[in-house]
Amino acid sequence: MTVSNELASLEQEAAIALESVGDLAALAEWKSTYTGKSGALTRVSRSLGTLPVEQRPEFGRRVNQLREQLEAAYAAAEQHLKLAAQAAELAAERIDVTLPGRTPALGYVHLTNQVLAQVQEIFGEMGFLVTESPEVEFDEYNFSLLNFADDHPARDMQDTFYLDLPDDAPSVLLRTHTSPGQIRVMRERAPEPLRILLPGKVYRNEQVTVRSEMMFHQFEFLAIGRHITMGDLKGTLAYFAERMYGPGTKVRLRPSFFPFTEPSAEMDVSCFLCGGTGCRVCKYAGWLEIGGCGMMHPNVLRNGGYDPEEFSGFAGGFGPERIAMLKYGIDDIRGFYSGDTRFVEQFG
Ligand code: DAH
Repeated sequence: MTVSNELASLEQEAAIALESVGDLAALAEWKSTYTGKSGALTRVSRSLGTLPVEQRPEFGRRVNQLREQLEAAYAAAEQHLKLAAQAAELAAERIDVTLPGRTPALGYVHLTNQVLAQVQEIFGEMGFLVTESPEVEFDEYNFSLLNFADDHPARDMQDTFYLDLPDDAPSVLLRTHTSPGQIRVMRERAPEPLRILLPGKVYRNEQVTVRSEMMFHQFEFLAIGRHITMGDLKGTLAYFAERMYGPGTKVRLRPSFFPFTEPSAEMDVSCFLCGGTGCRVCKYAGWLEIGGCGMMHPNVLRNGGYDPEEFSGFAGGFGPERIAMLKYGIDDIRGFYSGDTRFVEQFG
């Protein structure tokens, strides 16, 4: 084959090969095969020396021309492939705005707060004002001012989380009950008669079981006036139980002891889970203990700024989780705060 024919067939071969190039990698391959340093064109151009002198300029021109032509073809193909790649990428990443979105998870009012809302409504109907008091509390408010003696064994009833403070600081704790709110409210309002409801969180350093949690809720209710009697307390509780659990709910007061009430009582309602026959939650008693109550102790009234000769009052502290367990037949308190949404969602 003459060198001239070689050039012509190279041109043809390169053109055909370029047609089957489908991507940039193959194009790079094509470039090194035909126009690269050790590619076909370089190889053919080396035959320049074998030609008679007069043919060399013409041959050189044709080699250069072909090189330009191949480089132009390369540039055009590169441009074309880049655009195609970009178009393919855009197509692959296209967002279909007509696809339905993911439904966002809707929240629920937690069961405890549902019960507290109901409690607030019921006590509100009886003229009680809803307010709050601190969860981080002075030992003095949590115990001493509520008539717990410093060494009173009743302090042991409530295992307490104390704050780690310098020795000369007053003793501070996470309140073990909502009762210290009684002192705060009385000191704010004395000597006005009052009806107050104090809902909130309380903390006890307790072993977690089906019946007890380290953090739970209480609501404290208190009424102070000039002629408040145990009859008022019982009437209030009876109304509360019937509104909370429905007509016919039985209420039972059992004598008990609390340092801040005299006399003291434990209020039970008939167990709805077992209908009174006995089950795990009511400890096979048929009754469920809702919480303590009683007539406010004269020392507590005095610590709040009320003269016990002139004023009397009743108070009580109940647990909404326990109320919810009774109402919805929940037999394990741990579901409330374990973070398993399957529990909470049942009551959404
Ligand atoms: N503070 C008590 C507790 O946590 C409950 C209680 C009992 C509150 C009697 C009261 C009361 O106001 O009169 O166990």
